[in-house]
Formats: sequence, structure tokens, C-alpha cells
Amino acid sequence: MSDSKKFYITTPIYYPSGNPHIGHCYTTLACDLVARMKRMQGYDVMFLTGTDEHGQKIEKKAQEVGVTPKEYVDDIVANFKKLWGRLGITYDRYIRTTDDYHVESVQKIFKELYDRGYIYKSEYKGKYCTPCESFWTESQLVDGKCPDCGRDVTDASEEAYFFKLSEFGPKLKELLLDEDRNFLEPKTRVNEMINNFIDPGLQDLCVSRTSFTWGIPVSFDEKHVVYVWVDALSNYITALGYMNSAYDDFDKYWPADIHVMAKEIVRFHSLIWPALLMALDIPLPKKIYGHGWITFGGGKMSKSSGNVIDPFILADRYGVDALRYHLLREMPFGSDCPYNNEMMFNRINSDLANDLGNLVSRTVAMAVKYFDGTLPAEKEFTDADNDLLAQLDELPAFVAENYESFHIADALERIFKVIARANKYIDENEPWVLAKDEANKPRLAAVLYNLLDAVRRCTILLSPAMPNTAPLIYEQIGAADANTKWEDASVKYSLPADVTVKKGPVLFPRIDVAKELEELDAMSAPKRELPSEPLKDITKFDNFAALDLRAVKVISCERVPKSDKLLKFIVDDGFGERQVLSGIAKYYDPEDLIGKTLAMIVNLEPRKMMGYESNGMIMSVRDGDKFRVVEFPDDIKAGADIS
Ligand code: MSP
Repeated sequence: MSDSKKFYITTPIYYPSGNPHIGHCYTTLACDLVARMKRMQGYDVMFLTGTDEHGQKIEKKAQEVGVTPKEYVDDIVANFKKLWGRLGITYDRYIRTTDDYHVESVQKIFKELYDRGYIYKSEYKGKYCTPCESFWTESQLVDGKCPDCGRDVTDASEEAYFFKLSEFGPKLKELLLDEDRNFLEPKTRVNEMINNFIDPGLQDLCVSRTSFTWGIPVSFDEKHVVYVWVDALSNYITALGYMNSAYDDFDKYWPADIHVMAKEIVRFHSLIWPALLMALDIPLPKKIYGHGWITFGGGKMSKSSGNVIDPFILADRYGVDALRYHLLREMPFGSDCPYNNEMMFNRINSDLANDLGNLVSRTVAMAVKYFDGTLPAEKEFTDADNDLLAQLDELPAFVAENYESFHIADALERIFKVIARANKYIDENEPWVLAKDEANKPRLAAVLYNLLDAVRRCTILLSPAMPNTAPLIYEQIGAADANTKWEDASVKYSLPADVTVKKGPVLFPRIDVAKELEELDAMSAPKRELPSEPLKDITKFDNFAALDLRAVKVISCERVPKSDKLLKFIVDDGFGERQVLSGIAKYYDPEDLIGKTLAMIVNLEPRKMMGYESNGMIMSVRDGDKFRVVEFPDDIKAGADIS
């Protein structure tokens, strides 16, 4: 395969600090769509994704749950891979920054940058939280305190290595402003980078730390670990075998055709990454694309109540292709897109059930009804077909161009305009009227053939977005699976003249929006764990009023000999002292209860336990294994009435 026919596309490598959510899906789906199209166009594609597994945050999370960082990330990486499997993501390689070959390469890259004079040792100054053992920058602090624990931070410094990012300002500006290159899309991000970062002056970048250990050790100074971006960004070349022998694809696929990500990490990809590559004398990637965020109630990612957004649940309930289509169709080029289920249901109903689903089922049903499923070879094409055909002819180039430039929503919108046009073509040509007269059969055959061919051509173009649906449609319209090449979408009338259709199941059942929303709401309501004791029957107020409930002060408390349950109290009930027993010896040391102000029912009949008389009942609360006495603050007097 010739060099020009290769295509290398990457997603960011995601942090496995928590499980993947629907926000991670967009980037991966968008890359999958482009990778699939490129393969259909005959390209040798390398589609890379993976996980960015080092760093203090992961070290801490692992500590919290009592496992090693590697064990922690192993679990989450399995979930990332499971989700990508579920969504039909066709990545060619999955890189983990804990993979040995990556570790080896990063150490070599770091050393190389050091040897070339781009990395030097200095001091990192920041705000330090001693209990958390964490450095923070001024902007990360919350009200001047540690963002993790809320405690005071102090000025501190540690020895660290720095990358001379400050040297690259002019070259980076030139790169970003190069009109022919179009390095960074969308264009608005170019100004952001220049105005906010390059023009004010780039700072050298801290690239090593000594305050945590979960990272790649600097090979020539082992108390340092490589800090974040050199480790993470290098994945795009180490995964091809740069400075390691695990793979041998660097010369073949580098430079990358496109790195895709959301806007918050565009800065690292369009400034730090090219600077690192320039320092290493490696060609730059051809393009960086920073899309917007899927937002949930305003933020990049938050749990909005009543909105089940677990991609596994959504894929299971509505189908992988519906979820894929919705995410790809909704996200506008370069800007944010709110997610909510209602929008998804409306989108599925209008585009997939109504427009596409109906076009396929009506067309196939008519071919069965009027021709027993097989069209006659004799057809009468007329000028009335021209508009639909012209729209179909223009479609493949438009879609290819827009998919590739990540104007994916625009491309899908255009395909559905043509699908709507085809539906209108049915109404214009009224096959049910043509069918009434035998003489019209050639015209009727031509109308149905045009419709089947329109479905075929649109389905090819939709297939990177809806890879599971395409074969189902091909089967129904008698196109088998021969139509998987991109260029087939440009070929008019490639179906056999006597094509045979086959009725199939409904492609996209209509969603009852109100009912579905209710069901998802019910699923997302926090599940209550019911108390083990059911509620008792209603009783009269008098029954309550008959009980004398008081605060009492504990004067003494000791274990009852030979009983592992009972504690013996002398309490002051405000009128005098009395003895009371309570079965809480398992939960309290007697000394801890002396002096406490407790709640007690003081007018219960005296009762004997283990030979001691108990005059009343100390009140406590039980919750599973937990058992606590009901306590009042010290300033409540003995004998105070509880109501
Ligand atoms: N590990 C770094 C990236 C290093 S790449 C060399 C990182 N990881 S991340 O887990 O935070 O992933 C961020 C990326 O996930 C975003 O840039 C985007 O691609 C995707 N998304 C995560 N949440 C998202 C949304 N809510 N909306 C859209 N994309 C989002 O940053």
C-alpha cells in the first residue's frame, strides 16, 4: 500500500481515575467514524486509543480503596475496553502508559531531551498541603486552601526538572498562524492559544516530581518521576514503536494525520506537544482538533438527577447505533452540546424511526406488495427522478469532506435531508396509484428501484456512524454486503436490475418518550435500603403520653459480672438516683459512658436481669451492626422532659 494511503488517528489517552462515562464516548466515537470511513476508502488505518495511568491522583485513589495503583487502574481499564467493545469501537491499538515498552521509551525520550539541553534541573515552587503530601498551584486552591482536604497550605519547593517551553513561543506562533497548514481546528482555538499563552510568554514546564512515586522514574535520577505531559503525550509515538522494539510502525504512520480531543487539553496538544517534537527533531502531527464538551446541567460532566446517562444502559435499551448516531449528530463542530435523554429520544424517533426506518420499510413493503419482492428488469426512468439523483450524486463528496474535517453533525444532517427527499419522492410519485394500472408497471419498478438505490447509497455513507444497522438494511434491500466500499456510494444503480428485497424487522422502534423518561427516572432514583424493622401500626397519642421520657446523667457504669451483654448504670433522673441495666456492653466501654446525658424511659415497671433490678430503659438506636445510645449535650439537666 502506498504511503499516501495511510491514516493515523488518535483519541486522548483517558485517565482511569474513574469509570468511563458518556463524555469520553464522543471523542472515541468520532474517531471511530473517521477511521471506519478511511478504511472503506482503502486507507491503511491506525486508530489509537488508551489510558494515561500514572500520577498522584490515581496513587491516592488506590490508597483510599486499599489496592496498589496498578490494581486500581487494571479494573478501570477493563471497563474502558468493555465500553469500547459495547460501542463497536474499532481501535487498532490500545496503549497503557504502564506498558513496559512505553515506560522504556519515555525514559529514553526524557534522557534525549536532557542530553539535547532542553531539560534542566531547578526548583519547583508551589503551595504544599502537608497532610495530603500534595503540591498545588495558586489557581488550583479553593479559597486559598487545599482543594482535597480544605486545610491550610504552605509555600514550599522541591527539586524538579523543567522543559524549556519558553524557547518555543515564536516557532509555535508561526505554526499556529500558518494558513496553509491549518494545524489547529477550530480556528477560534488558535487565537485562544496565542492571546492567552504564547503572547503573554510561555513558562518553562515542570516535567518531573519527587513528591509522589506512581510514575515513570527518570532513568538518570531515580528519585524523580516523569510528570504528566511528557509521559502522556509521548504515547502517540511510543505506541508506534518510537524508541522501543514492541512495535515497528513509526516510519509508516508518523506523522499522525489527526489528534482528536476536547477543548480543555488543546493547549497541551498544540503547544507542549509540538515543542517536545521540535526538541526531539521529529515531524509534527498534521492536525489537532479540539471539539466541545458534552455538558450535563452546565458543566463538563456532572450527575444531573433523573437523567440516566450510563452508556451501557443507553446502548442496551435503545441500541448501540441509536446512541452512536445521537451523540455524533448532536455535537456541533467546535462547540458544546448539552446531553439529555429527551433530546436523544426525539432524535431517534424523528430521524431513525420516522425518516430512515420508514423509508426502508415502506420501500421494501411496496416491492413485496407490487412485485412479490423481485423488481422486473424493464423500467421507465423519467425526469421526475432527477432531483433525487442529483442530491445523491453530490452527497458522498460532501459527507467525506465533512466527516474528515469533523463536521460530523453537518454530514449526518445532509444525509438525512436526502433521506427526507427520498420520502418525499414516494409521495410525489404515488406508487399506490401507479400500481392500479398494469401499463404503469415499468414506471412503478423504476420508482422503487430509485428508492432502493437511494437507501443503498445513503446507508453506505451512514455506515461509519451506524455500523450494525447498515448490514441489516443491505439485507432488506437486496444489496447483500457487497456495498461496503466508500466509492460505491458514488456509483448510481449498482443494485441488480432484478433486485430481490426481503422484509426484515423494524430497524428503530418508536420510543414512547414520556414512558421512557419515567422509567429512566425510576432507574436513576437512589435505591433505598429499607430498615430491617417494618413500621409498626398507628397508635393512640395516649400510648405515647403514658411513657415518661427523660434526660438522665450517668453517675456510674460497670459491667455485670458473667454477662457479656449487660451494663449496670446508676443514673440521676433529676429527682434522685436509680439503677438501670442496658444490653449494650458489646458496644461501649463502661468508662466512656460515665458523665453522659442519655435518654431514658423512666416509668417502666422494674425488671430483674441477671439478679439485678432495672428501673427503666436507656434508649438507643440500632442500624445494622451499629448501636448507639441516644445522647444529649452536657448542658441538658437531669430530669429534662423529652417529648
Ligand atoms: N489524560 C489526559 C489526556 C492525555 S492525552 C495525551 C486527560 N484525560 S481525561 O480522562 O480527562 O480525558 C479528557 C478527554 O476525554 C477530553 O479531552 C475528551 O476527549 C474526553 N471527554 C471527557 N469528558 C468529556 C465531555 N463531557 N465531553 C466531551 N468530551 C469529553 O485529559
